[in-house]
Amino acid sequence: MATANNPRKILVTSALPYANGSIHLGHLVEYIQTDIWVRFHKMQGHQVHYVCADDTHGTPIMLRAEKEGITPETLIANVHKEHSADFSEFLVQFDNYYSTNAPENKELSQSIYKKLKAAGKISTKTIEQFYDPVKNMFLPDRFIKGECPKCHAKDQYGDSCEVCGATYNPTELINAYSAVSGSAPVRKETEHYFFKLSECEQFLKDWTRSGTLQGEAANKMGEWFENGLNDWDISRDAPYFGFEIPDAPGKYFYVWLDAPIGYMASFKSLCAKQGLDFDEYWAKDSQTELYHFIGKDILYFHALFWPATLEFSEHRKPTQIFAHGFLTVNGEKMSKSRGTFITARSYLDYIKNPEYLRYYYAAKLNSTMEDIDLNLEDFVARVNSDLVGKYINIASRTAGFINKRFEGQLNPSANNAVVSEIKASANVIAESYAEREYGKALREIMRLADLANGFVAEKAPWVMAKQEGQDSALQEVCSDALEMFRLLTLYLKPVLPKLAGEIEQFLNIAPLSWSAVATSLLSQHRINAYEHLITRVDAKQIEAMTEANKENLQATPTPAPHSQQRHAEHQQAASAEVAEAEYISIDDFTKVDLRIAKIVNAEHVEGAEKLLKLSLDIGEDKPRQVFAGIKSAYDPATLIGRLTVMVANLAPRKMKFGMSEGMVLAASDERGGPFILSPDEGAAPGMKVK
Ligand code: MSP
Ligand code: ZN
Repeated sequence: MATANNPRKILVTSALPYANGSIHLGHLVEYIQTDIWVRFHKMQGHQVHYVCADDTHGTPIMLRAEKEGITPETLIANVHKEHSADFSEFLVQFDNYYSTNAPENKELSQSIYKKLKAAGKISTKTIEQFYDPVKNMFLPDRFIKGECPKCHAKDQYGDSCEVCGATYNPTELINAYSAVSGSAPVRKETEHYFFKLSECEQFLKDWTRSGTLQGEAANKMGEWFENGLNDWDISRDAPYFGFEIPDAPGKYFYVWLDAPIGYMASFKSLCAKQGLDFDEYWAKDSQTELYHFIGKDILYFHALFWPATLEFSEHRKPTQIFAHGFLTVNGEKMSKSRGTFITARSYLDYIKNPEYLRYYYAAKLNSTMEDIDLNLEDFVARVNSDLVGKYINIASRTAGFINKRFEGQLNPSANNAVVSEIKASANVIAESYAEREYGKALREIMRLADLANGFVAEKAPWVMAKQEGQDSALQEVCSDALEMFRLLTLYLKPVLPKLAGEIEQFLNIAPLSWSAVATSLLSQHRINAYEHLITRVDAKQIEAMTEANKENLQATPTPAPHSQQRHAEHQQAASAEVAEAEYISIDDFTKVDLRIAKIVNAEHVEGAEKLLKLSLDIGEDKPRQVFAGIKSAYDPATLIGRLTVMVANLAPRKMKFGMSEGMVLAASDERGGPFILSPDEGAAPGMKVK
């Protein structure tokens, strides 16, 4: 048992986000879940270290940098800044946020590899892989496209078909082409390095039984064992952005080999900063605790490859792996067309307060791998009713009397039944946090807030304040209510750390740790002036946010989605963003029905920041209505009568302001715009543009 003098030593990680995309609300489920757990354990007085890093290696990052005309190092440095700012604004407080492209990681990866090799766990095998003869590189499966062998859908990825769901080898694709250059890939032999996972089965079975995994995760492992474990391909050929394999020129570690080692590297860098002992945490006989928070999509890597890598390189294994489910928004996968693919930044721009999201996620989170839903209507209702209506209300209805009538001085009762009941729940709430049953913890806290509000309503201090001779009773009731508020603040602090800090200021107390449950606000203690602590969320902010995320889509082209990264369960996994093909076929192009359109009307749209409403004549019975994100550049009156070009067969989309039945073409980049396109004289409405 750990005691105050002998705290538990705990190392906690969240999965390392890929360095080729922005942090979005899906990612935040995990970082907020972990951060709450870490803050809770720190409040308990344990010695907790929370580390993370950007996952920087691999083909997608290399190709994206190339496309942007920058080095991968510049790309990952930019993204590191962006990610760090996002996390810090969401109050995700890492003790170290590092990068997998770091000297510690290179050294650890190479030394672990050497140990695996010395243990006889590395083999080589010549395999045949697709090769892009134009780009002179081997192609990961996700960079090969072609016709699905089962349903003949065009342009499917090399590992599976998004239309019929079939999985196959890239060699089975019909008319395969490289997504990088568009050329026809050729088959080419190459020698690869493998980690002999097949020999680790017994170890992994024993380890699975040791209680390291949640029930559902252990079941999944059972399925994998039944299917048999394949050796793991850990090498990739140059060109590759990553670390070279020792004594293997031109061969690099596959990104998923050095990514989890990045947990160690980030901790090693923390050790250097804080004088911690790296080996105390990672040596085989370590007595410290190690927890990995991950999404269910990357369980295979963390429950098979990772413990086996640690075991056969003479390191400790994780104490537990905590896998969570995926985020849905309004019951569906996040979607750009619905405006529910929301980045961390966009949330901050529109909703502003990160603690609302922390609270909402916490209310929804439990210890299972079930998906969690962000229902935007429910979000508004829940935040307003729980945080503003129940919690903050306790202080806003009582603090003013203490400040105005008693110069901020408290005089609580010796014994208040509600205060006692709130204190009595400390252990139940602590257990719920420790077990990652945050929803359960918050339900209990809100039940207690209801009791506190009941107490205030029953005593009605606003009535007492108007009566003669009630002064000391008024002071006592309000002091007791503030004591209840202090305790609730303590319980909510892992979820709402910033608000709790402001309340500590207001109550004029030291930062609350869990042991402060046993203390009380004292008589004679003076609080500070009560200032407005929190505002309601307005449904309009949500609408504006989803609308803006839709508008972005229409007005400015956004890069290919990098969110729905897929992790096929075996080797090929981890292909993050798939580079768009540099070529499309003529068939692809002729799918787009471009028409000359006459702008017969143009007007402002009330409440829209970027949009103008256009009526476009393309020779049909009635003009098309299109919302275009060109308000910043055009006075609507000057547009009427002009000819332009529109996409006539874009699926109609319902927007906040009405249906949009197409799209007008406009040019823009950092030099300016948007500039709508105009045909030469003689063109007429409805003409096809080819
Ligand atoms: N780079 C790998 C992890 C390497 S760990 C050694 C990776 N990166 S990721 O950016 O795709 O995802 C980072 C974490 O966010 C993962 O745990 C993933 O499960 C989680 N999520 C990404 N999208 C998510 C949702 N939509 N919902 C919930 N979690 C999600 O995987
Ligand atoms: Zn198919």
